[in-house]
Amino acid sequence: MLVHHDRVPGIYDEPDFYEAACAYRDVPAEVDALLGWYRRYGGAGDPGSGVPRSVLELAAGPAEHARELARRGIDATALDLSAAMCTRARQAARAAGVRLSVVHGDMRDFAIPCEFDLAITMLNSLCHLLTLDDMLAHLASVARHLADGGLYIAELAHPADFLTERRTNSEWTSEVDGGTVTVSWGGRADVIDPVTQVTREHVSVTHRGPDGAARTVTDVMPNRFWTATELAAAIRLAGGFSVAARYGDFGAGVPVDAPEAWRMILVLRRTLVQWVQRGRHVGSVQRRVTLAAYRERRAACEAVEARDAPEARKAPGTGSTPDRTRENSPR
Ligand SMILES: C[S@@+](CC[C@H](N)C(=O)[O-])C[C@H]1O[C@@H](n2cnc3c(N)ncnc32)[C@H](O)[C@@H]1O
Repeated sequence: MLVHHDRVPGIYDEPDFYEAACAYRDVPAEVDALLGWYRRYGGAGDPGSGVPRSVLELAAGPAEHARELARRGIDATALDLSAAMCTRARQAARAAGVRLSVVHGDMRDFAIPCEFDLAITMLNSLCHLLTLDDMLAHLASVARHLADGGLYIAELAHPADFLTERRTNSEWTSEVDGGTVTVSWGGRADVIDPVTQVTREHVSVTHRGPDGAARTVTDVMPNRFWTATELAAAIRLAGGFSVAARYGDFGAGVPVDAPEAWRMILVLRRTLVQWVQRGRHVGSVQRRVTLAAYRERRAACEAVEARDAPEARKAPGTGSTPDRTRENSPR
């Protein structure tokens, strides 16, 4: 039987390394795309403005996207299973002077006393949902937290990476704070179990500072490969969502089935009627609280977080970010 890792291992215990490894991304540009899709497909948010009032980032890690959304004035919450990542997300938000609520929790089953206009899961974090049951529980949890007409946007690896010739690299180097970070993350050597579609991905991240001093973090972590049709079936089975669109890139409307597509980005719309018809989680409709009430509760949580948060740790930094192209964009 396949057992989900209860504790998030290795690289996620080293948020500084993780963040440096992912410094190749253009987070503001990705957030522009997320907000563009919200404007196009979302039905919640500020009437007339097409802007979500609140966002929930799941499996957020250091919560770079939630932080950027908060910087743009959107009420942002980040959830992650790793305590180290939650600490990093809090510290980074504080350092950036933005309000971010951070929840230590499991994306398969969580309860936050608020409804959100937009939920997001970035960079193939859904690969940590190893089974159909994990995926269904996750979709139900997200649906419970979305406002009517709210959107759930999930970015995954493109199936071409597993089923055809890879469209992304599994090895790359970025410059960070005058040093470099060299990353190897998965790749063809990590064989996919043909029955479970789970790989044990070998990860190695080496940070070399400007003085030449180097440190390496390694990890082996389970990674479930989801096909497009499996996801379509899971979404239908879970109920509560319709697929509004599927994209293959953050830019210029590349469809997921285009030859140049290199990500699989699902734009899901929360459909209350279908959700209720399926008889699932009807109770949560009555559970809704207003944003004002949620903000009050959040302020109380933040006071406790501020009291309990450990001292900030030094990150290796996320200095220069190379262009995000298919060739140099790893995952
Ligand atoms: C590849 S990282 C992505 C982080 C972030 N989304 C980003 O774009 O940088 C995956 C994250 O998923 C988190 N994670 C793994 N399993 C989880 C679960 N069941 N619930 C919540 N977070 C989880 C890990 O702790 C890690 O921070």
